[in-house]
Amino acid sequence: MDTIAISLMEKNDLPEAARVLSIAMRDNPLHVAIFQGSDEKSRREIEAMFAALFAELPGVTFLAKAGQAIVGVMRMKSCKGRKPPEDPIGPIDPDDINWRKAVWHRAWARRDPAEQHWHLGPIGVLPDRQGAGIGSALMQRFCREVDACRSMAYLETDLEKNVRFYEKFGFKVVATSDVLHVKNSYMVRPGGTEGDKALQGFEGLRNEGAKGSRVQGAG
Ligand SMILES: CC(C)(COP(=O)(O)OP(=O)(O)OC[C@H]1O[C@@H](n2cnc3c(N)ncnc32)[C@H](O)[C@@H]1OP(=O)(O)O)[C@@H](O)C(=O)NCCC(=O)NCCS
Repeated sequence: MDTIAISLMEKNDLPEAARVLSIAMRDNPLHVAIFQGSDEKSRREIEAMFAALFAELPGVTFLAKAGQAIVGVMRMKSCKGRKPPEDPIGPIDPDDINWRKAVWHRAWARRDPAEQHWHLGPIGVLPDRQGAGIGSALMQRFCREVDACRSMAYLETDLEKNVRFYEKFGFKVVATSDVLHVKNSYMVRPGGTEGDKALQGFEGLRNEGAKGSRVQGAG
């Protein structure tokens, strides 16, 4: 087993980091619902989406490298306040990718904590490297960074097995909702007293989450 090194992403790593994430995340159920499959065309669309994210809102991104090869990517971004969703939601049209993306972005944006927090995501490890501790190494780095500033952390996930993975690092599910028929879990990792207060503030959303966002998602 080769040595894995965690380092900060540099500008020239950006295209490969977006490609690695697209390979890692092409089968995630929400991406399959948004991009209508997990074939090469869908993967390329996911890659373009992550390339645009890194270009516009890079945050702080860490890479896991085996030698020169990027095998895992994790982005974290400091956020404060709910930003209004940019894209207007048009008439219900599940066949329209822009409608599906708008449903997704709105469902996530409305649950963003208003308080300062570190938002985790995306995170992905190449499929043939998963289960070997690389994701945990990236998460340990994430926890070290947020603990240094006693910040709350937050993430969304569309996979139950990922919920268990994130729980190992102190995240707790605070709400769930259906987005395009896919169950999404919203998770908080408290950071000091402010984080604890924020966790309590999520009780209302938990109930709302139980009802789900099926109306938005399924039309
Ligand atoms: C989730 C993910 C980043 C974890 O990275 P990883 O390198 O596989 O994680 P690790 O090897 O450090 O830990 C794996 C642990 O998570 C669990 N796990 C979650 N998804 C797993 C997967 N696809 N393969 C293997 N283990 C997985 C295992 O149960 C394991 O637990 P254990 O340590 O008790 O055995 C990675 O599996 C991945 O990229 N998945 C696909 C993309 C994705 O879902 N990204 C997150 C979106 S919210």
